Amino acid sequence: MSHSLNMGSHDGVQSLAVFVVIGMVITLMIPANANLSSHFYDKVCPQALPVIRTVVQRAINREPRIGASLLRLHFHDCFVNGCDGSILLDDTKNFIGEKTAFANNNSARGFSVVDEIKAAVDKACKRPVVSCADILAIAARDSVAIYGGKHFWYQVLLGRRDARTASRSAANSNLPPPTFSFSQLVSNFQSHGLNVKDLVALSGGHTIGFARCTTFRNRIYNESNIDPRFAASLRNTCPRSGGDNNLQKLDPTPARVDTKYFTDLVHKKGLLHSDQELFKGQGRESDKLVQLYSKNTLAFARDFKASMIKMGNLKPLTGRQGEIRCHCRRIN
Ligand code: HEM
Ligand SMILES: *[C@@H]1O[C@H](CO)[C@@H](O)[C@H](O)[C@H]1NC(C)=O
Ligand SMILES: *[C@@H]1O[C@H](CO)[C@@H](O)[C@H](O)[C@H]1NC(C)=O
Repeated sequence: MSHSLNMGSHDGVQSLAVFVVIGMVITLMIPANANLSSHFYDKVCPQALPVIRTVVQRAINREPRIGASLLRLHFHDCFVNGCDGSILLDDTKNFIGEKTAFANNNSARGFSVVDEIKAAVDKACKRPVVSCADILAIAARDSVAIYGGKHFWYQVLLGRRDARTASRSAANSNLPPPTFSFSQLVSNFQSHGLNVKDLVALSGGHTIGFARCTTFRNRIYNESNIDPRFAASLRNTCPRSGGDNNLQKLDPTPARVDTKYFTDLVHKKGLLHSDQELFKGQGRESDKLVQLYSKNTLAFARDFKASMIKMGNLKPLTGRQGEIRCHCRRIN
């Protein structure tokens, strides 16, 4: 007589218990907020990441600033209801989107490159499998690696899905303006689960790209925590009135990810008020980090990459939440 036919009621209870435990383990393996993974597209579309990298490289060759604009798009996406591609949505009759929020209006750029990436990746994958939110994360990583070299390359986590709505008022209340004081910057970052080290490291994003006169005018005419010769040198580019959109590089090497942004802060040559708030020579944690990063590329690279991954993990939509958009500017 076989063992299974002779199974007593005691064994039955035991195997039921085993099933319950297995069920609980499976349930625990599908967390409410599923994790992102670096291999998300490896099986479904192995060409996705190389194709995106090629389009980003081509766009940077065409316009050296564009990678900076792409990095900023990812930041502005993540800080408004998480990294969900919401910044890319045009206004509809149901909502006013984020593109005209204070920090984005006449400022956020790179949307047509995102469209170009989306078209190329969907064509390579033969169907829309890569979300617009992931495209922003990948394009930001690629830009940083292209401008910064191998020390600034990191494995980007993927599997985000796209939001079906966007909100200008959420963008207005969540994106920090350059007028913020240190404590306002700290609490803004804290509200996103990011600490002082993340604030300083991620502000290192200003090692690339440009700012408009209107964002630093008050600083060069009215502030005292600024090198006077540096301030004077900017007054042609940024007159007291007019020239609001005139551009100034955020650090001396706007197409290179390096530590010059931090060296500048140590010398009171931060372009934005918010930049200089990080360094006042007062021995605070942020002062020490600025000093460290100004002298140590590898320390900056290590912390910047870790904080980028942390920022990229902000409230992603995963699993069956949201959707994979067919066009990044509108919901399906
Ligand atoms: C800490 C708070 C921050 C403030 C107040 C701030 C503010 C600004 C401002 C005012 C500009 C110039 C925009 C314009 O004139 O149109 C700018 C540009 C830029 N920001 Fe930030 N930013 C912050 C953090 C970050 C972070 C965390 C990143 C990325 C990790 C980032 C990446 C950039 C880049 C790359 C540019 C240049 C964009 C371009 O040239 O198109 N910023 N930021
Ligand atoms: C955005 O900028 C445009 C052009 O300067 C301006 O006309 C418009 O009023 C701005 N929108 C908002 C919401 O500030
Ligand atoms: C300098 O500060 C004064 C007083 O706050 C303000 O009225 C003026 O507009 C500022 N100047 C510039 C160029 O921002």
